[in-house]
Amino acid sequence: MRTKYIAGNWKMHKTVGEAVSLADALVKALAGEKGKKLMVAPPFTALAAVGPRLRGSPLLLGAQNAGPEEQGAHTGEVSVLMLKDLGVKVVILGHSERRHVYQEPNELINAKVRLALRHGLEVILCVGETQAERDGGVTGSVVEDQLLSGLREVSEADLDRVTVAYEPVWAIGTGKTATPADADEVHRHIRTVIARRYGARSAESLLIQYGGSVKPANAAELMAKESIDGFLVGGAALTPETFVPIVQFEKGR
Ligand code: PGA
Repeated sequence: MRTKYIAGNWKMHKTVGEAVSLADALVKALAGEKGKKLMVAPPFTALAAVGPRLRGSPLLLGAQNAGPEEQGAHTGEVSVLMLKDLGVKVVILGHSERRHVYQEPNELINAKVRLALRHGLEVILCVGETQAERDGGVTGSVVEDQLLSGLREVSEADLDRVTVAYEPVWAIGTGKTATPADADEVHRHIRTVIARRYGARSAESLLIQYGGSVKPANAAELMAKESIDGFLVGGAALTPETFVPIVQFEKGR
């Protein structure tokens, strides 16, 4: 039995004050939550303020991205060392908005993954196909390439700190959710690719989240699939009214 892992990606939302209010409300609502892994990723500007509010709660502090080097001339980037300094435990890398809007290639994402793991952070590595790729029947190969390139030179031991998030680009922020069957098919493929590269034990223990218009109304049916181990939630992570019922998906069955 794999742990259910539900993460909220706040993207470019929330001032410091708004982020602290949301964090406080989530801590209050989820204080008694046991047996699941939970994380929120506020914007960089709110990490220092939100971190202390999560202490003693079941919510881990996450970041939405990190630079590929420890320090240096990288205007606008934030280093994993700076994130660790703020108590960040998890970093989301290769999000489709980074890949497609900001043109981050697999090689860059791999450099970030390796650096984050080397410094002891956990990583959520996002993969997923565009609508055109899905229509062209290449979902499997696109996801496989993103996975294997993203994990290049990542050891089996380090893979224990990696979660994969399958986020079909056409489902992110669009209100269009992959059907549980669609998501299940890709999640199974991801596990097969990992088994081929790292062996059955690693594949069996790997947590694979689904992301893309997850909401209270579809969380239970998605999570009912054996291959779906959790969610990476965007829009619905921005209010307690929508995020808490997703975390407590079993109540919606
Ligand atoms: P969404 O975003 O839930 O708003 O579709 C998911 C994500 O991008 O992680």
